[in-house]
Amino acid sequence: MPLVTTTDMFKKAYAGKYAIGAFNVNNMEMIQAIVEAANEEKSPVILQVSAGARKYANPVYLKKLVEAAVETTDIPIAMHLDHGADFEICKASIDGGFTSVMIDASSHPWEENIEITKKVVEYAHDHGVVVEAELGKLAGIEDDVNVDAADAQFTSPDEVEEFTSKTGIDSLAIAIGTSHGAYKFKPGQDPKLRLDILEEIGKRLPGFPIVLHGASSVPQDKVAIVNQFGGSMPNAIGIPESELRKAAQMAVCKINIDSDLRVAFTAAIRKHFSDAPSHFDPRQYLGDARAMMKEMVKHKIVNVLGSAGKAF
Ligand code: G3H
Ligand code: 13P
Ligand code: ZN
Repeated sequence: MPLVTTTDMFKKAYAGKYAIGAFNVNNMEMIQAIVEAANEEKSPVILQVSAGARKYANPVYLKKLVEAAVETTDIPIAMHLDHGADFEICKASIDGGFTSVMIDASSHPWEENIEITKKVVEYAHDHGVVVEAELGKLAGIEDDVNVDAADAQFTSPDEVEEFTSKTGIDSLAIAIGTSHGAYKFKPGQDPKLRLDILEEIGKRLPGFPIVLHGASSVPQDKVAIVNQFGGSMPNAIGIPESELRKAAQMAVCKINIDSDLRVAFTAAIRKHFSDAPSHFDPRQYLGDARAMMKEMVKHKIVNVLGSAGKAF
C-alpha cells in the first residue's frame, strides 16, 4: 500500500473510538522501531518529522526511509510535517511527498493564524495533502506548569467552529492540559486532562478529528532506567495514560508522542554501555535502542491509542 493521507484513518478512528499514534522520527532505527511495532500490532501509524528532524537527517533521506517502510509492510502509513512554522516549510514538505502537514500559527494573532492556515490548506488540498492546525497553546519544554497560566492557554470551544470553517483544515490540535517535553509536572501535582473542554469541542465539531500534542506520559520504569545508568530525569511526570485513553475514545483521533520514545531509546543505550562498556559497534547499541523503542510504541498502541488490529 502506498503512503496514505490521514483522512480514512481518522474517519475510522473517530467511529471506532480509538486514536492513531503520531510518532516523531529522526533516523532509520526510529522508523524501523515504530513501523515494526505498528506492523506487529496491525495498527495504522503516522510518522512525523519536525523542522529539527528535517535539519538533522535531510528530509530526502527520511522520505526514502519511510518509502522503505511502506514497501516492507502492508499497514497504512502517513508521513506528516510536525509543527510547520510557516507556509514555506509546509510547501517544501508537500512538494517533497509528505501526505500531511501541520501549520502551527497558533502563536500569531487570530486573523493571521486564519490567513496563514488558509494559504497552506489551499496549496495542500491542490496537491492531495491534508492539513492540521492548532488553536490554544501548550506549555513548552522548560515552562513551569502553573495551573492559572495553563488555564489561560486552553483552547476555547467558542472559537473552533469559526476557525475550522474559515480555514478548511482537516484536523485541529487543541490544548487541554498536555505539554511538550519530558519535564511536565512536579511531584504532588495531579495532572489531568480537561476532558470537559474536549467534550464541548466534540459537540461543536461533530465527527471532526481532534489532535493531542505533548502526550508523552513519562513512564516511571523507563525514567528509572535512565537515572540508574547515569542519566538524570528527576521527578518527570506526565498526564496519566488512563486519561489519554479516555481522550482517544472521544473526538481525539491523533496522539503525538516523541519524548517517551526518546527516553526509551536513550535508556537502552545507557544500559548497553553500563553492561558492556567496551562495545563499539553501533549496531549493538543502536539495535538495543531500536528494540526498547519498539517496546514503547507497542505499549502505546495497546494501552493509550487502542489502535491494535485496526490496520485493515
Ligand atoms: O513537539 C515537538 C517534537 O517533540 C519534536 O521535537 O523539534 O526537537 O524535533 P524537535
Ligand atoms: P511529547 O514531548 O509529549 O512527546 O510531545 C510530542 C509532540 O507533541 C510532537 O508534536
Ligand atoms: Zn507537538
